[in-house]
Amino acid sequence: MTDPGFEERPPVDLHTDRAHSARVYDYLLGGKTNFPADREVGDRLMADLPGVRPDVTAARAVMHRMVRRLAEVHGVRQFLDVGTGIPTAPNLHEVVQAVDPSCRVVYVDNDPIVLAHSRALLTSTPEGRTAYVQGDLREPELFLEDPGVVATLDLTQPVALTLVNIVHFLSDEAAHPPVRKLLDALPAGSFLALSAGTADVAPERVDAAVRRYAEAGITLHFRSRERVERFFTGLELDDPGIVLINRWHPDSAAASGSASGSGSGSGEIGLYGGVGRKP
Ligand SMILES: C[S@@+](CC[C@H](N)C(=O)[O-])C[C@H]1O[C@@H](n2cnc3c(N)ncnc32)[C@H](O)[C@@H]1O
Repeated sequence: MTDPGFEERPPVDLHTDRAHSARVYDYLLGGKTNFPADREVGDRLMADLPGVRPDVTAARAVMHRMVRRLAEVHGVRQFLDVGTGIPTAPNLHEVVQAVDPSCRVVYVDNDPIVLAHSRALLTSTPEGRTAYVQGDLREPELFLEDPGVVATLDLTQPVALTLVNIVHFLSDEAAHPPVRKLLDALPAGSFLALSAGTADVAPERVDAAVRRYAEAGITLHFRSRERVERFFTGLELDDPGIVLINRWHPDSAAASGSASGSGSGSGEIGLYGGVGRKP
């Protein structure tokens, strides 16, 4: 459902008594849109996993690098971002509209609290356009038909589908069919940008994260490199392929970001990321 406007929006139950992935992530990013249940999970994670905060900051930063490169190097001007998260500056449209103010961005998330804060996602340049659609990755046919998508994106022209730090909340069985459907709905020349959690780097840290999230009722799915690669089947991989996100076109901030603070001790971050082009 497209955000109907701030005055008309019906009240939503935010279930603030239980932790939610978007708000735990916001807490770890140092944001303010979180509640005691979210902070409890976040605090336990920080106790178990020293360095988790810089890792989460790095997880957000790879989104910035991916979309900047898509706009600057690949000339993409339309973006469909599913699993947007609570707004945190800079948001995706701010990054790509700095490259070209005419960029158009649709944000999709299934958490009502993201809807509640979606005003910060609707600050498009006059030349471009942004929309927020309340939707679920598992039901792409529903949000693809949403008036917000239809009015914002021209699906006859290339679109970058960005799935950054979302698929680890879904099993392969739940995630692959909708990702395929979305890519099928986009024209040749479109892109997939995706990052996903892995246990390849520091399995003991992943066990702790899985346990802490499970206590809060959130199931995490970590993937090997091969399993992340499956999302890119049929796509042409952009340089440097599917790599740990700290190795994906690092800039100076990313290079210095987690390396010192990461509890994995190696500067490696337990997320794979990549970009692929639909031929
Ligand atoms: C860890 S945050 C990532 C936010 C942002 N993409 C980033 O990387 O900074 C994951 C987001 O995905 C959303 N999410 C999780 N499962 C989803 C689903 N099935 N459909 C839509 N959004 C989902 C959560 O509500 C949360 O906002």
